[in-house]
Amino acid sequence: MRFLDKVVFITGAARGIGKSFAAAFAKEGCRVVIADINFDQAKSTAHQIGPNALALEMDVTKQESIDQAVNTAVDQLGGVDILINNAAIFTAAPITEIKREDYQQVFDINVSGTLFTLQAVAKKMIERGKGGKIINMASQAGRRGESFVAVYCATKAAVISLTQSAGLNLIKHKINVNAISPGVVDGEHWDGVDAFFAKYEEKPLGQKKKEVSEGVPYGRMGLPSDLVGMAMFLASEESNYVVAQTYNVDGGQWMS
Ligand SMILES: NC(=O)c1ccc[n+]([C@@H]2O[C@H](COP(=O)([O-])OP(=O)(O)OC[C@H]3O[C@@H](n4cnc5c(N)ncnc54)[C@H](O)[C@@H]3O)[C@@H](O)[C@H]2O)c1
Repeated sequence: MRFLDKVVFITGAARGIGKSFAAAFAKEGCRVVIADINFDQAKSTAHQIGPNALALEMDVTKQESIDQAVNTAVDQLGGVDILINNAAIFTAAPITEIKREDYQQVFDINVSGTLFTLQAVAKKMIERGKGGKIINMASQAGRRGESFVAVYCATKAAVISLTQSAGLNLIKHKINVNAISPGVVDGEHWDGVDAFFAKYEEKPLGQKKKEVSEGVPYGRMGLPSDLVGMAMFLASEESNYVVAQTYNVDGGQWMS
């Protein structure tokens, strides 16, 4: 087992990519914290994974909630070795229709949530003195603009930038901060994305997803399990000399 007795704390792990990470790390001997605003789904996911999974209710937009979840994980499991900042939401609208409340909510979750969860866990890692691994979930959307996706793209560009600064700042504590930039990954998240495009590009439901899948050089959309290998590499000692990077895992989509 690659991660026997390590503790991995994953935000937004009740479903989707985070859930897939949680199951994979548990199989490799990790104790897994499933920290999600959707506590019922987090509990059900933890139950499916087994006794090495702990569900915690956590809203990454609230400092008290972040502190409480991180303190509980440290108290119950002895520390956090790996953090995966995975919780995020998607939004889309033409520039002239972006609502300030929507902008604020998406930045609060995707950017502030990432930064202040990283900060809370990094403080604990520094106190403990054993280093650590922090992985932020970025997106190809953070590498360019998209006509209807200004706000989400900007949040993911901010995640790539925060990864660079935090990576440089924390490596002296032997804490590696890196990020993964997926392309298009099938699941409930993308069902939501498809619905936005159905509205703004006037396509039937499912059409955008079909077009996007056909455009991936690998020949299909990503699956959450396609991202596990990179997450495990970035969580392992094999990546000790990798600092402040964001890696595409996208079936060739960004390159095309
Ligand atoms: N699916 C894709 O195509 C894709 C592509 C690129 C990047 N990503 C990124 O990968 C990550 C995971 O994506 P996914 O497809 O699994 O998404 P998802 O929507 O399926 O899961 C997101 C999870 O975050 C949780 N969450 C939402 N708000 C929260 C909050 N305030 N506090 C705590 N938890 C909260 C949700 O309850 C949910 O369980 C995200 O960062 C996403 O931006 C996804």
